[in-house]
Amino acid sequence: MAKFLITSALPYVNGVKHLGNLAGSLLPADIHARFRRQTGHEVLFLCGTDEHGTPTELAAQAAGLPVAEYCLCQHAIQADIYRRFGLSFDHFSRTSGDANRLLTQELFRHLDAAGYIEPRIIRQAYSSTDKRFLPDRYVVGTCPHCGNPNARGDQCENCTRLLDPDDLVSPRSAISGATDVEFRETRHLFLKLSAFEGRLRRWIETRRDWPALVHSIALKWLDEGLKDRCITRDLTWGVPVPKPGFEGKVFYVWFDAPIGYIAAAVEWSAAASGRDWRAWWQGGDDVRYVQFLAKDNVPFHAISFPATILGSGLPLKLPDVIKGFNWLTFEGGKFSTSGQRGIFTDTALALLPADSWRWWLAANAPENGDADFTIERFVDGVNKDLADTFGNLVNRCLAFAAARFDSTVPEARDAGAAEDKLAVELGTRLERLRGHHEALALRKAAEEVRSIWRLANAYLADAAPWTVIKEDRGRAAAIVSTAVNLVRVAAVAGWPFIPSAAAEVLRSLGEDAELVPWLEDGKEALSAIPAGRRFRVPSLLFPKVAAGDLATAACRPPA
Ligand code: 2FM
Ligand code: ZN
Repeated sequence: MAKFLITSALPYVNGVKHLGNLAGSLLPADIHARFRRQTGHEVLFLCGTDEHGTPTELAAQAAGLPVAEYCLCQHAIQADIYRRFGLSFDHFSRTSGDANRLLTQELFRHLDAAGYIEPRIIRQAYSSTDKRFLPDRYVVGTCPHCGNPNARGDQCENCTRLLDPDDLVSPRSAISGATDVEFRETRHLFLKLSAFEGRLRRWIETRRDWPALVHSIALKWLDEGLKDRCITRDLTWGVPVPKPGFEGKVFYVWFDAPIGYIAAAVEWSAAASGRDWRAWWQGGDDVRYVQFLAKDNVPFHAISFPATILGSGLPLKLPDVIKGFNWLTFEGGKFSTSGQRGIFTDTALALLPADSWRWWLAANAPENGDADFTIERFVDGVNKDLADTFGNLVNRCLAFAAARFDSTVPEARDAGAAEDKLAVELGTRLERLRGHHEALALRKAAEEVRSIWRLANAYLADAAPWTVIKEDRGRAAAIVSTAVNLVRVAAVAGWPFIPSAAAEVLRSLGEDAELVPWLEDGKEALSAIPAGRRFRVPSLLFPKVAAGDLATAACRPPA
């Protein structure tokens, strides 16, 4: 049985994330982790906050807090939100922790010793007023392409073009607004990415099972030729560069952030005996490593992080699959953290149960193209799938069974052709569902779950135990027994998507809601609950949502 190492891109610590961030990495990773656990695999599911970089420093400054304090607080806020969303991380780490600092420095030393690090002199923005260099977003100015007066040193948010600080017209400091920005020479360290071109190309070209999106982004980078990357910055917040002559500099956030995946395993390992991070990160073919991330993260995960690992010469795993996602848009436009546009995860939880959001975002995942979130589509989707289909099945079946069979699962002696046919169809659908999960086809998996819920409803409606019971109690008992088992199947199949509602249903049936094993066989699945088992009717799982309930969803004070 393979072991699954699963990581979701580490969300930046600078503020609560929006639903787009959830949909494009955290949620699909969780759904896959839950599915793999269900099918009996050992899983290590890791995530954490990405805490370095200029956006974090600027956010801390805006909040009036020392950066370490700001990160501690924002990490706790995000960890709590993800717990409430049911994200089942084995560990939720922080890239500013000791483990990541030590590992980052260790990998760097290996890269340096192997000749993959080169000092170079570059020109950087410097402000005499601030008495410091202004890397990346610390310098702002007018975009030379579109005239946006607030373009950042690394990118213009208006026209999305990537920029270098000296492209900016009338550059100024983002710290003080000082306009005395000049370009001074300073020595930095470059990772010789160009040295890895051949190895990376050979590796990527053989990854035929990666999503086309990821493959094409990675190959495009290679085709354009890999440029050596500056991996150090003149900042104090970050992992210090352990090399004489570079005191006072730290690593670029994208150098240390992915190493945070390994550091998360190290921390997880240290937290309890009997855990060994090496069995995961240095494991052989028995460990399958799956990464989940949005498309803008692909170059870092398919090119620069693998180069770091390969160049270090350490026996660390490269990803077996990189599952990349497109963008989720909000009402036809971009979700934006800086613009506070869209629905944010904390607001979402205040309005509706986590499962409602989880379901819709998975069923409409931006998998094969961008996907648009609109309140209208969301309300329509969750009402149909969760209230009218899943919720209705659970309620109608269990309420009838409770009233007519004294809240006890009846004997199914009089099961017949209808149940045999149902078992065959169910078996086929469960097999398909498993295949979709294994292929990381999230939308198709959700569609199959929906089909199973519909199949169950259709069986109950056709078999109509409320009519049959008037003449044949034995046959009605068989139908009810089958239907109660179908409720269990609906919950088990839905569990990776809607874990809290599914667990509530399983508990009401007297089942274990912590360990929810997969269902293999249609016939077995329809008779799993023994006759005589007592059950209860859960309270309403998914009340209908009206668009008006979400009227305040996208209202947030400007950042
Ligand atoms: O794009 C982002 O949100 C980054 N914080 C993702 C980092 S993933 C990993 F490499 F740390
Ligand atoms: Zn622009």
